[in-house]
Amino acid sequence: MTESTYQQLQISTSLAEQIAFEYFNIQGSAKPLAGEIDFNFRITSSEKSYILKVSRPDAALEYLTFQDELLKHLEQKSPDFTYPKSYRNADGQGIFDYTDAHGNNRKVRLLEWIDGYLYSAVSPKSENLRFSLGQKCGQITNALVDFNHALAKRSFDWNLADALWVEQYLELFSEKELGIISFFIEKFKAIQPQYQNLRKSTIHNDANDNNIIVSQHLQNPSVEAIIDYGDSVYSQIINDLSVVLAYGIMDFEQPLEAAKAIVAGYHQQFPLLDEELQVLYTTTAMRLVISVTKSAINKKKEPENDYLLISEKSAWRLLEQWKDISENYAYYTFRSACGMTPCNTYEAFVEYAQNGRWTIEDLIPESKNKTITPLDLSIASTFIGNFSNYINSAALDDKISRKVKEENLLFVGGYGEARPIYTTDAFKIKTNEGYEHRTIHIGVDFWTLAHTAILALEDGVVFSCHNNDHPKDYGPTLILKHQLNGLVFYTLYGHLTKESLADKFIGKVIKKGEKIAEIGVEAENGAWSPHLHFQIILDMLGHENDFIGVSSPSNWPIFSSICPDPNLLFKTPLLNSKKRTDQLDQIKYRKQHLGKSLSLSYDKPLKIVRGEMQYLIDEFGQKYLDTVNNVAHAGHEHPKVVEAGQQQMAVLNTNTRYLNDEILEFAEELLATFPEELSVLHFVNSGSEANELALRMAKAMTGEKDIIALEIGYHGNTQGCIDISSYKFDGKGGKGCPENTHIVPLPDAFRGIHQGENTGAQYANHVAEAIQKIQSKNRNVAAFIAESIVSCGGQIDLPEGYLNDAYRYVREAGGVCIADEVQVGFGRVGKAFWGFQLHDVVPDIVTMGKPIGNGHPLAAVVCTRAVADAFANGMEYFNTFGGNPVSCAIGRQVLQVIKEDKLQENALEVGEYLKKQLKNLQKSYPIIADVRGEGLFLGIELVDENKTPLPEETNYLANRMKDFKILMSVDGPQHNVLKIKPPMCFSKANADYMLEVLTQVLSESFMMNE
Ligand SMILES: Cc1ncc(COP(=O)(O)O)c(C=O)c1O
Repeated sequence: MTESTYQQLQISTSLAEQIAFEYFNIQGSAKPLAGEIDFNFRITSSEKSYILKVSRPDAALEYLTFQDELLKHLEQKSPDFTYPKSYRNADGQGIFDYTDAHGNNRKVRLLEWIDGYLYSAVSPKSENLRFSLGQKCGQITNALVDFNHALAKRSFDWNLADALWVEQYLELFSEKELGIISFFIEKFKAIQPQYQNLRKSTIHNDANDNNIIVSQHLQNPSVEAIIDYGDSVYSQIINDLSVVLAYGIMDFEQPLEAAKAIVAGYHQQFPLLDEELQVLYTTTAMRLVISVTKSAINKKKEPENDYLLISEKSAWRLLEQWKDISENYAYYTFRSACGMTPCNTYEAFVEYAQNGRWTIEDLIPESKNKTITPLDLSIASTFIGNFSNYINSAALDDKISRKVKEENLLFVGGYGEARPIYTTDAFKIKTNEGYEHRTIHIGVDFWTLAHTAILALEDGVVFSCHNNDHPKDYGPTLILKHQLNGLVFYTLYGHLTKESLADKFIGKVIKKGEKIAEIGVEAENGAWSPHLHFQIILDMLGHENDFIGVSSPSNWPIFSSICPDPNLLFKTPLLNSKKRTDQLDQIKYRKQHLGKSLSLSYDKPLKIVRGEMQYLIDEFGQKYLDTVNNVAHAGHEHPKVVEAGQQQMAVLNTNTRYLNDEILEFAEELLATFPEELSVLHFVNSGSEANELALRMAKAMTGEKDIIALEIGYHGNTQGCIDISSYKFDGKGGKGCPENTHIVPLPDAFRGIHQGENTGAQYANHVAEAIQKIQSKNRNVAAFIAESIVSCGGQIDLPEGYLNDAYRYVREAGGVCIADEVQVGFGRVGKAFWGFQLHDVVPDIVTMGKPIGNGHPLAAVVCTRAVADAFANGMEYFNTFGGNPVSCAIGRQVLQVIKEDKLQENALEVGEYLKKQLKNLQKSYPIIADVRGEGLFLGIELVDENKTPLPEETNYLANRMKDFKILMSVDGPQHNVLKIKPPMCFSKANADYMLEVLTQVLSESFMMNE
C-alpha cells in the first residue's frame, strides 16, 4: 500500500462527528483512538461517550455480524457482564454501509463507551489489578466455551495455533532477533503433538493492553471490561491466557513474577489443566513472535500507521527476558499460581523419602562422635549478633570454627533459613518494585572439621564434578544423579576438598554408602569455615555444574518444591526448619494482650527483626531504607554504640547514689555542646520524662502553673505532657484543653493563619496575648514550650524572629522558656548542634531524648543554674534508671560517633542536597506544595491548587514507598506531610534512590488522576 492510499483511508474527526450526527442523531466531538483494522473515535456528547468504528473498505459484513452474535451470546450467558453494547442507527441497523469521499464502501458501527482507563496507561499494574485481569479473561473463556460459529474457524494470522506462518518472514529480522525468534519457534514445534490435543473453544484472542478497561478507583484498580471481540477465533483455550499474558506482563522487570497473579485470577474463574500449563511458556512467547513479525511486515506496508508499532519495543524486551527464564521454572511457577505443588515430581520424592530410612550418620559417619547442634543463622540470630559480624564474615566463620573444634560439635541447619549474610549487594536483585535480596538458604549445612568423610545416601552416577571457585561460591562441588523407579533427583555436595574429587568423572557409578568426598579446608572450599552444603534437586533447570543455593522470598515457594527439605530423608527434630510466628497471630495477640491503643505502621505491617545503620531488615532478610527513625541517630545497631553498652553492662549497672566515672564524663561531654548558661543536667529515661521534669522545674522556679504551648505540639505520654500537647488533647480520644494550658497558633507560614515572609512577629504576638489572658485571671505564665522545628505539626520551620520575640515576652512576664529538642537535637538540623541555635536564642531548659541513646532508653534535661537551684527545694530527686552507668556509656559513645562519623556535617550536606532536589521535583509535580525543614529533618507538604490538604495521596505515597522498601512517615494535622528524618548516616546515594522512587510513584496513575 502506498502512503497516499493509506491517507485516503483516513477518516477525519469532523467526518466522524458528521457520521455520528447524521446516523445516530448524536451531537458530540470526536477524538481518534487506536485500532489496527478499524478507524475508531471516541464521540463525546453532553450526556455520554460512544465509540464510532469505521471499517476499512470492503470489510466483510459476515465478520462483523459474527462479532454481533458473539456479543449477544455473552449477554445471554452473563447479563451483568460489562462489554461494549452496540447501538442501532435510525433504520434499526447495528452495522450499516457508508460510502466515503473516494467511493469506498465502509461499514460503520457505534458502540457503548465504557468509562475507565486503558490497562496500558495505568501504573502501577498492581497484583490485585493483574489478578482481576486474569479473572476477567477467565470469565470470558467460561462464557464462550459453548459458543459455536462457522466463522470462528476461519484461518487467521493472529490465531496462535497457526503461528508457524511467521517462518516465511524470517528474513525481516536481524541476527540477534532471529536468534530469539528461532528459539521459540523450535520450542513451539516441539510441543505440537501435545498442543494439538489441548481443549479448544471460541476465544476472545485479543486481550491486549489497549483492549483492557480498568476501573476508575485508582487506589485499588481492577479490570472492568475487555473490549474488541473482532479477533475471536476457535483455538486452543490456553491461547487466550497466552495473549493476555503476553501484553499483561510487558514492561515488567520480572515478567514471570508479574504473570503469577494473572494466571491465578484466570485459573480461579476457569480452572486450567496441567498439560495446558506445560505449554503456556511457549505459547505466550509465540504470541509475541506473531506480534513482532506483524510489526516488521507492517512497518514496510504502512510506515505511517503508528498503532501497528505500538507494542513492538516492549514485545522484543519481553521476548528477550522470557528467553532467559527456564521453561520448566516458568511451568512450576504457573502450577504454583494455580495452587498446585510447583514441581510436578515433588510429591513422588516425598513418597520415596517417606518410605526410606536415613540418618545424618549415613551421610557423615563421623557425626556419631559429635554433639549434633542446630545453628541459628537466621536474620534475628543472636549467635551472629551485630551486623559487623556478617559484613566482614571472617568473625562469624571464626566463631563457628572455634565452637566446632572446642566443643566437638556438628552444627546443622539452614534449610529455608533467611540469613543476614545474604543481605549484601552480591545477593541483591531488581524486582518489579525496587529490589529484593536472595536471602533464603535452599540446602542444609553441616559444619564440622575439614577432611570429614561424606558418603552417598543412595545409588547414583556422577552428574557433575566441578570447582565453582569464584569467591564465596560452593568451591569444589559434586552432583550425583539418582534414578529410582521412574523418579529422578540429584544431590549436591558443596565446599569439598579438591583431592577427594580427583577420581570423579561424569557418569561414574556410585553405590549407596560409598565415600564420595571430604569436607574442604577454608583455603579451597569457597572460603567458608569448613562445612558441607547438602541440597536435593528435582530438576537441574539446565544447570550443569552447580545450582542456585539461595532464593528470594518471592521465589521460595517454587525453589522449596524443586529442592525439597533434606530432612524429609533424615526426619530428625534437630533439622526442623524454624517455624515463624504467623503475622496474623502476632497481630491478634497484640490486640488482646498488649493494649489496644498501640498502633502498627502501614496497611500491611512489617515484622522487623534486625537493624543495620540506615536500614531495617525484616524476618525474610529484606532491607528497608529507613527515613523515619531519628532515634537510631548514629545508625541502627551502630557497632561502637552496641559495644559500649555491652561492655558496661558486663561490668556494672547501678543508680546515681554511688560515685561513678561514666556519668561525670558523659555529663561533661554533653554540657560541652551547650551554651555555658545551660550548665546543670538531670538524666532520665524518656522524652516524656524529660518534659515532665522540665514542667516541674518551671513550676518550681516561677511558683506558677500556666503553660503556653504550640498548636499540634506533642511533648510526651505522661499526664503532664498530654496536658500541654494539643496534638493529643485536641485529637482522637482527647478531652480538650486543660484550664492551665494555653495554646498559641502553629507558626506555619505556608498554610497557617499568617502566611508568607516575615510572620515571626505576628505569630509571637499570640504568645503575648496568651500571657495577657493568663494575667487577666490573676495568674502568671510558668513556661513556654516549643520544638525548634515542629515535628507533629508537619515539620514546621519556625519563622525568623519568632522564638526571639516569644522568649522575650515570656521572660518579661517572669516565665521560663523550654526548648523540646527530643526530635531535632544532636546535629540533626545540620547548621547547628541544637535546633534552638538556628534561632539565636538560649532557653532556660532544654529537653533531650530519642537520639541521645541511639535507641537505648535514655533522656536528659539541661537547665540554667538558677532553674536547677529553684528545683532543689529539699525533696530528693531519685530516678532508679536515670543516669545509670550503662546508659551513660551509651550516651557518651553516641556523642563520640557523632564526631567521628561527622554526622552533623553529613546532615548538612545530604540534607541540603535532598532539599534542593525535592524543590526541583516540585516543578514537575506541583502537588508537592512545600518542601521545608533543615538538615536531615525535612517535610514535604501535599496540597491541591487551592491549598486543600491531600491526605489520601500522602498515605498512598508512604505505602507505595514502602513497596519499594523505603520507609517514610506521614504527619501534620491533616496527615498530608511526608516526613524525612532518617538515621544520620543516610547517604547521598540513599537520597538519590529515594528521589528516584519518589519520582516514579509521583507519576503513578493515582497521583496524577485523583
Ligand atoms: C517533640 C517530642 N517530645 C517528647 C516526646 C516524648 O518522648 P518519649 O516518647 O521518649 O517519651 C516525643 C516523642 O515522640 C516528641 O516527639
